[in-house]
Amino acid sequence: MGDPDLPTPPHVVEALASAASDPGTHRYPSYTGLPAFRESIAGWYERRFGVRLDPDDDVQPLVGSKEGIFHLPYAFIDPGDIALIPDPGYPVYETGTILAGGEAVLMPLLETNDFKPDLEGLDAASWNGLALWLNYPSNPTAAVCDLSFLQEAVDFCKRNDLLLAHDAAYTEITYDDYVAPSVLQAEGAMDCAVEFHSLSKTYNMTGWRIGWVGGAPVRSRRSSV
Ligand SMILES: Cc1ncc(COP(=O)(O)O)c(C=O)c1O
Repeated sequence: MGDPDLPTPPHVVEALASAASDPGTHRYPSYTGLPAFRESIAGWYERRFGVRLDPDDDVQPLVGSKEGIFHLPYAFIDPGDIALIPDPGYPVYETGTILAGGEAVLMPLLETNDFKPDLEGLDAASWNGLALWLNYPSNPTAAVCDLSFLQEAVDFCKRNDLLLAHDAAYTEITYDDYVAPSVLQAEGAMDCAVEFHSLSKTYNMTGWRIGWVGGAPVRSRRSSV
């Protein structure tokens, strides 16, 4: 886990304190999340990455990104399906896959390959794959990637009929001149990719449990789902 040791910015704490006294916030929330929050997510995506998301169709708020990372396999993985998972990596990609009845196939992240999986070395034709997980900037290797690698991953997933799930929890914590890309900037990503984001690391809000997943609407993913 990456748990920032700085406090949440005061304006966020103040907004929570004021929202807590509004009875409108005391009831069950909607499953799809507040429209204002979905619109904020879509607006941030456009400003930060130049990617336009439909707040109604392409964005789903989550109780922290982990909620979605864990549950994604329940929607896409059936017994016998495999998910390709970076090793080392955030453990929830693997545990979610196994608990959904799937098989986790680990992809070694080696220093000799800049801590990236060797996608072309995967024998895609020999397995019944369904999902490929990536996480850049990476926990725990701290490796980063550029858009050309994410483009390669999108092309690989489209060729092999895989869902590409990119965990982008750390895109806002980078150094020097490097600016982390979004997988949704890659051409064709909206046909096969989703990306998980979170307020946890960016705004020191791990305890608040606010994240989202954005990207390809379900209807454009595998026809069997
Ligand atoms: C790589 C990675 N992804 C996702 C998460 C989950 O973050 P959250 O559920 O707080 O959004 C973490 C938390 O440590 C993480 O390290």
